[in-house]
Amino acid sequence: MKPKLFTPIQLKGITLRNRIAMSPMCQYTAVDGLPTDWHPAHYQSRARGGAGLVVVEATAVSPEGRITPGCLGIWSDEHAAALKPIADGIKSGGAVPGIQIGHAGRKASANLPWEGDNHISADDPRGWEPIAPSAIAYGGDLPRLPHEMTKAEIERVKADFVAAAKRARDMGFEFLLLHFAHGYLAQNFLSRWSNQRTDEYGGSAENRARFMIETLEAVRAVWPEHLPLAARLGVIEFDDRNEETLAESIALAKRFKELGLDFLDVSMGFSIPDAKIPWGAGQLREISKRVLAETGLPGSTSWNINSPVLAEAMLQEGAGDLVMIGRPLLGNPHWPFAAARELGLENPTSVLPPSYAHWLSRYHFA
Ligand SMILES: Cc1cc2nc3c(=O)[nH]c(=O)nc-3n(C[C@H](O)[C@H](O)[C@H](O)COP(=O)(O)O)c2cc1C
Repeated sequence: MKPKLFTPIQLKGITLRNRIAMSPMCQYTAVDGLPTDWHPAHYQSRARGGAGLVVVEATAVSPEGRITPGCLGIWSDEHAAALKPIADGIKSGGAVPGIQIGHAGRKASANLPWEGDNHISADDPRGWEPIAPSAIAYGGDLPRLPHEMTKAEIERVKADFVAAAKRARDMGFEFLLLHFAHGYLAQNFLSRWSNQRTDEYGGSAENRARFMIETLEAVRAVWPEHLPLAARLGVIEFDDRNEETLAESIALAKRFKELGLDFLDVSMGFSIPDAKIPWGAGQLREISKRVLAETGLPGSTSWNINSPVLAEAMLQEGAGDLVMIGRPLLGNPHWPFAAARELGLENPTSVLPPSYAHWLSRYHFA
């Protein structure tokens, strides 16, 4: 039987040739939010390598929404125009071009990972003041106190998400992923760890979800009906309130569905530095199964889906309709071909373009 990993899937009006998605991964090689020659080659090679969907890294809706000075942005028409060749390259490589838009909230203004991954010190002109729902620092290596957002700033950032979505749409991206996870701004609103507001954006679960709900509603209004709108949601913090957080997240995702969300990527909250995350192969497998079953949303998950066999098993059992593959695709842009061979796809070179497939189909692999 054909592995499910290599069966097509339709999401709204688009069809993915298979169920391998490249998970969004910051490349930290942008300058002033603009892509460099790193980006088109990086993304197109994963499309040529056989992925069905390639999701461009977290792209900031405003300058202060970047995680680091090397992060991409989409806050001006100039930035959007510079992203178009990336979308075009992914498409001509045979994959659906996706993009993640986000705001880093209290984790913004950090050094590049290989330069420390910590907050840039407040007196360093390379950095900027992070904003967040409350003036509470993340801690650990990210100790900088964010500025508590005013109502006007909340309105402005929601409008930035909408402008970003319009620009992504106009540049030819066909899958929009809202970054509602990983301890960045939207998750800062959702999590009790980072939100202690006393207005309508804080307190009850409903109030903490308000920023996400309003952002989603506003983005849905401008994102084309025939294209899938997705969110990556941090559904669990791995603290001492897992069951409660999961139940709230599932209720929230059901609300997202009513508001027109088409696809949910199940991820983690990363709101505290000392979370007890159970790192290991397919670590979100059971959680994703539960969240997707209870919400009825099509979706995916990521985190250490470290072999094609595991990816296939997770698809078979409903832990996702796609698998979001991250680091394995950094290690090997042709991971889909390796997976096709390992899973015994009848004609594994069919996942590659003819310029590679023609030769590899005649090659005697060890
Ligand atoms: C270098 C790097 C950059 C990442 N950047 C992002 C990002 O921009 N947005 C996001 O939602 N997740 C980001 N992640 C998380 C990945 O999308 C993915 O969820 C995670 O790496 C787990 O998948 P994996 O075990 O297959 O790598 C990043 C991960 C890595 C390794």
